[in-house]
Amino acid sequence: MHRLFILLSAVIVVGSGCERAVEPEWGYSPEVLELSGELQTEVRSQVRERCGTYSQPKLLGHDDVTTDWLKHGQAVYKKRCVQCHGISGGGDGPAAAVMYPRPRDYRRGIFKFTSTTYGSKPLREDLVSTLHRGIRGTSMPSFKLLPKKDIEAVVDYVLVLTHRGELENQIALTAQAEEEVDPEVVEEDLVPIVVDAWKQAIQNEVHVLTPQPEFTKANVVNGKKAFLTRGCSKCHGEDGRGLTADNLKAGLKDTWQQPTRAADLTSGMLHGGQEPIDVYRRIYAGINGTPMPGFANVLKDEPDTIWDLVAYVLYVSNRRRVGDNPPPGPPAPYVPVAETSVEAGG
Ligand code: HEC
Ligand code: HEC
Repeated sequence: MHRLFILLSAVIVVGSGCERAVEPEWGYSPEVLELSGELQTEVRSQVRERCGTYSQPKLLGHDDVTTDWLKHGQAVYKKRCVQCHGISGGGDGPAAAVMYPRPRDYRRGIFKFTSTTYGSKPLREDLVSTLHRGIRGTSMPSFKLLPKKDIEAVVDYVLVLTHRGELENQIALTAQAEEEVDPEVVEEDLVPIVVDAWKQAIQNEVHVLTPQPEFTKANVVNGKKAFLTRGCSKCHGEDGRGLTADNLKAGLKDTWQQPTRAADLTSGMLHGGQEPIDVYRRIYAGINGTPMPGFANVLKDEPDTIWDLVAYVLYVSNRRRVGDNPPPGPPAPYVPVAETSVEAGG
């Protein structure tokens, strides 16, 4: 009986193919849409050839990854991510406009919470752990309950959108400069620019300079001293709440042209993870796309100072949990809804 029902539904689904809702199509970035008609057509056709279409996605530089696998990733994305990250991964899903911070626009190929040095691509594992952990204190949820297969597939689909955005941008910029699109240049120069940066990420992994010490009060005290003298307090404020005049001034923008602010480190919601190693990476490598600088150079001869800063950040971050409640940090910068674009049709 049960099996018959499933069989019947399958027949109905297959049979109703002609009435199936039209699949959406990926959009193009402003850099492409600004080009003249003829150039634009060529750019679009190059992007389509190498990254596929919504119904036939391809992972640039990975011919071994099958369409079926990517369609599985797309199905997960459609169910769990599209409302925030948008059909083309532009961070412009229907729910995005009112969020701070905004969902990531993948098309720039820039990610914040990596285990790699400043300016580097993330490792694939970094994206997987972001999905597991979520980004505390933002609207990005944790997906740790999803089956491993779904996580792996949706990460590959995010990479499809990311690489497509990056390639589209490379081709558009070249088209603008050269007034033509040469498929050979795309193949030999532009595709490798995109793909190689991701391959190199593994060489940019941040390795701790010294092993993590057992934190004591002395680490926290030294960390506070460093926090006040090494420039952290200029942005995060002396108490880590981010209430400095500069930080409160409107108009600070990140790479994605969205308002940004130095984090309230006392909120108990470190976005990039709560483990000492997570905080170490943020301090050592900075945060891509944001004003948070990396201190790798400044502190390369003082590895202990980095761990002291980690101890101090974790200490202020935990203040609320131990009942010592500092008043909240800066309000989120106001994002006027009119300034934001919502993907047409939602
Ligand atoms: C309710 C909205 C929402 C949903 C649903 C959502 N995200 Fe996000 N996502 C966000 C926000 C907001 C950010 C940016 C956080 C920040 O900048 O700190 C983000 C950031 C990310 C990042 C970037 C992390 C980095 O290091 O920069 C990735 C990757 C990501 N999301 C993947 C996904 C995937 C895959 C799904 C679906 C399985 C998903 N998100 C679902 C809101 C969402
Ligand atoms: C130029 C301003 C600036 C300076 C200087 C600065 N920060 Fe930041 N910091 C930021 C901004 C902006 C963010 C938020 C980035 C984002 O959007 O996620 C941030 C985020 C962080 C985070 C991540 C918080 C999280 O949610 O995971 C840590 C940790 C941090 N800063 C520690 C430090 C320490 C320690 C120093 C000094 C060694 C320092 N910062 C210096 C601007 C600054």
